[in-house]
Amino acid sequence: MGEHVGSEIRTKLLQMFSEAKEGYVSGQAISNELGCSRTAVWKHIEELRKAGYEVEAVRRLGYKIIEKPDRVTANEIMLGLETEFIGRYVQYEESVDSTQKIAAQIAYEQAPEGTVVIAEEQRIGRGRMNRSWYSQKGKAVTMSLILRPKMPPQQAPQLTLLTAVSIVLALRDVTHVQADIKWPNDILMNGKKVVGILTELQAEADQINSVIIGMGINVNSVEEDFPEQVKDIATSLRIESGEKINRATLIQRIFFHMEKLYKQYLEHGFKPIKLLWESFALSVGKEITARTLSSTLKGKVLGITDEGVLQLEDNYGNVHLVYSADIEV
Ligand code: BTN
Repeated sequence: MGEHVGSEIRTKLLQMFSEAKEGYVSGQAISNELGCSRTAVWKHIEELRKAGYEVEAVRRLGYKIIEKPDRVTANEIMLGLETEFIGRYVQYEESVDSTQKIAAQIAYEQAPEGTVVIAEEQRIGRGRMNRSWYSQKGKAVTMSLILRPKMPPQQAPQLTLLTAVSIVLALRDVTHVQADIKWPNDILMNGKKVVGILTELQAEADQINSVIIGMGINVNSVEEDFPEQVKDIATSLRIESGEKINRATLIQRIFFHMEKLYKQYLEHGFKPIKLLWESFALSVGKEITARTLSSTLKGKVLGITDEGVLQLEDNYGNVHLVYSADIEV
């Protein structure tokens, strides 16, 4: 699973840093916790540095991690994670066909709610409407989150909208470029797509067993990384913001907002999420074309219903409910 020898010590160390007030951990505390000499502590810190962590040493205060490497293993996700259950169990994979497939499998095997599968490389990424999802190895976020809400399957689309809102909030935390939502679940920057969300279900007729929420984010890719056919429609956070972004930090912010909104959703329903969603949505009040598998509909977007279904008003004033489509703004 891509982890290395000595990772148990590293995990313990990183755990200490992530729990430390102000981030400082003394050499003595490390030596006590790991049951090793001060020289060994120094060696472990050197190991961290070699692995790409920037560690500061301050007299009397101890060590502090200033920057972590741009990796997305369980360790980097854990360091600084502010959630109770989302992302508390991470299955990291170097290379997979699709994180959705693995998440579905472990969800079936009873993986706890909040478990995520994260991959450094995805070879056969899946998109909505049977499309494929391409992502650049090491420069993207490709992950699938397992939730187990006790609710009927018809409500699952609301979770997709909740995810889109959470990602927009997280993007606000890590970049200054505005992100907009294009119904139902694309996130755009300056009119180009940076995030795709794919929600899949394991359910009985009246009860969800698990929801697998797949998120694909173009983070640090540069223009040359995109295949010719998507260059005009896709972009990355780095291209739009001009900055390299630490993927683990972005993932943590997503988990933080998702957990908060998910708890709120379970307690108070979809209304508060709907209001946030509408405030971030690009198309509310605009004329759009919605293409479903069987028809094309033009009209003005009124908003979404309390169930998360798109409301479209045609030229004759008839209001249509659109459950699934591609829209052109
Ligand atoms: C879309 O916009 O069509 C949705 C794209 C979803 C891509 C993500 S990447 C992680 C997860 N694994 C997949 O195979 N797909 C989703």
